[in-house]
Amino acid sequence: MSINVIAIAGSHRKNSNTELALQIMSKRLSKIDIETEIITLANKKIEHCRACDNCKRTRKCPINDNLVEIMEKMITAQGIILACPIYSFNITPLMQDLITRGNRYFHILAKSVIKDDFNNPGFTYKNIPYSALKGKVGAAITVARRAGGGMALWNLNNFMLVNEMQVVGSCYENTIFGNERGAIIKDIEGMNNLYRLTDNFGILLKRLFS
Ligand SMILES: Cc1cc2nc3c(=O)[nH]c(=O)nc-3n(C[C@H](O)[C@H](O)[C@H](O)COP(=O)(O)O)c2cc1C
Repeated sequence: MSINVIAIAGSHRKNSNTELALQIMSKRLSKIDIETEIITLANKKIEHCRACDNCKRTRKCPINDNLVEIMEKMITAQGIILACPIYSFNITPLMQDLITRGNRYFHILAKSVIKDDFNNPGFTYKNIPYSALKGKVGAAITVARRAGGGMALWNLNNFMLVNEMQVVGSCYENTIFGNERGAIIKDIEGMNNLYRLTDNFGILLKRLFS
């Protein structure tokens, strides 16, 4: 079976350092026959969660924007990479939208979840359906000028863990430092961590899905 990865860049700009980090990972993964599609959240139509809680009562969401297509794509992949620059010591607002709406989407709203859970039309925390991301392999990286990478990584990794994914790590915190476009490749330690993370991600994908 072919192995596919969806890699999400949470930067608010195109041609970002975050996209560059994902291109480096994608090139390395292609050497072991793993295909990666990079999706950037910049310039996409993405709304905030409205907190109407319709999803819990009716398992429907009134928002139909680009994020729904992106989340459906994530469900088709075997591996997911979440990559995000640091804005004000944490993940970006766009990545926060993916995490906030994604937690509801993958557990309550995704068509595949509703199909497997047809006897339970409502939703309760006592009986949470399996996540549509369950069993997928995940990796997270952050890109910073200087500070906030650890807190952001915790958010990205925790999102994947509560969606029942198998999350891999590297030999150190996966934050790459760089401010100007392209500067991350000068962060030798950060690049080594990125390679190690990519290799650990690839090894687990191959073990589980080859
Ligand atoms: C609005 C904004 C807030 C930022 N806040 C931080 C911060 O708190 N800590 C930090 O180290 N870098 C911060 N940065 C710098 C970015 O993390 C850095 O430039 C990064 O390389 C941008 O990645 P990108 O090209 O993928 O968007 C901030 C940048 C912007 C635009």
